[in-house]
Amino acid sequence: MLVGNWKMFKTIHETRHFAEVLGRNVGKLSADIDFAVCPPYTALQVAKVVLPAQILTGAQNMHQAEDGAYTGEISASMLKELGVTYVVLGHSERRQMFAETDGGVRDKVEAAQTAGFVPIVCVGENDSEREAGQTMAVVGRQTRIALEKAAKDGDKLVVAYEPVWAIGTGKTPSPADAQAVIQGIRKVVAEVLGEDAASQVRILYGGSVKPGNIAQFVSQPDIDGALVGGASLDPESFVAMAQSMT
Ligand code: G3H
Repeated sequence: MLVGNWKMFKTIHETRHFAEVLGRNVGKLSADIDFAVCPPYTALQVAKVVLPAQILTGAQNMHQAEDGAYTGEISASMLKELGVTYVVLGHSERRQMFAETDGGVRDKVEAAQTAGFVPIVCVGENDSEREAGQTMAVVGRQTRIALEKAAKDGDKLVVAYEPVWAIGTGKTPSPADAQAVIQGIRKVVAEVLGEDAASQVRILYGGSVKPGNIAQFVSQPDIDGALVGGASLDPESFVAMAQSMT
């Protein structure tokens, strides 16, 4: 699975350009890979219309309430109208800069699945937690709480392991280290949702993934794909990553 998280990048116009380039390269996209991009809310509608059909769309966040007085927030039913498949939840930028909590992510996972979306639940340790040897404790806690109210169906869930210190920094864990943490996440999924769900759930690696290193990560036994920020903004780089995965 290859997911591009565009964060706060790309206007409607820029989204059209991305889709045009991707459309010209569509023959290079393997049918064995699930593709998605997660544009800003303002570009979700046009992305759904102009992107090749095998590129699904995802939102970068969602409010857990059905509706209400939540200025600036977006509900599941609003995203439904835009043909969204995935919703990124608990991204570290949301946790760090917008005060998202483990419990809030749990409620959003439940609301997203109830609405029929597949949540992409992000977990990851920061620099000091890693240096303190707390990686698995932090990632395990985030995963366990996020899944407390989740469906026991691995097809309805994606988890992304994104070490905070690797996001946008050019630094990455070794593929073996990422594999070890992701194997640990799969064990936590098994504890919370059962073995069947754990064997079905797709667990992605994210953090400074680019065309030159994606193959090393996705060739690890427990790593089912990548969640890519910066390198997913350039359509040619998106295609290059897709090709490197096969
Ligand atoms: O959601 C994507 C991640 O935050 C990774 O971002 O590929 O720019 O390091 P990055």
